[in-house]
Amino acid sequence: MSGLGKHFGVDASLSLQDTQEIATYLEKNASKRWTSTDTPLRITESQWFTSKHREVGAAVWKRPAVKNRSNCSACHSGADKGDFDEDRVRIPK
Ligand code: HEC
Repeated sequence: MSGLGKHFGVDASLSLQDTQEIATYLEKNASKRWTSTDTPLRITESQWFTSKHREVGAAVWKRPAVKNRSNCSACHSGADKGDFDEDRVRIPK
């Protein structure tokens, strides 16, 4: 939260009040599964993500229509609405 001006190459700065509110929320609710030494910076590097995508082969991630793991909507067409249901996954050829 203290480096939002350089958030993965984007300026995601918030007002001081919003920053404090969100930081307080994160400190109270952050996952306890990840300890400070192995906290991944990106969701796609988390154990959770890897385990959810065990069946996706390495070559699939490199397909032009996928490009990279963070392109959720390439396979999860409802991603923009928060829908990641396994039954509606369609991997582009
Ligand atoms: C290359 C296509 C692809 C991309 C890109 C992708 N996923 Fe998936 N995702 C799948 C497939 C296929 C499954 C189910 C396969 C399995 O069980 O291994 C899945 C499963 C999931 C599940 C579990 C769904 C359930 O019903 O249990 C979640 C949650 C999820 N993905 C989130 C994401 C998020 C968040 C992103 C982006 C950061 C993402 N996925 C990117 C293909 C993809």
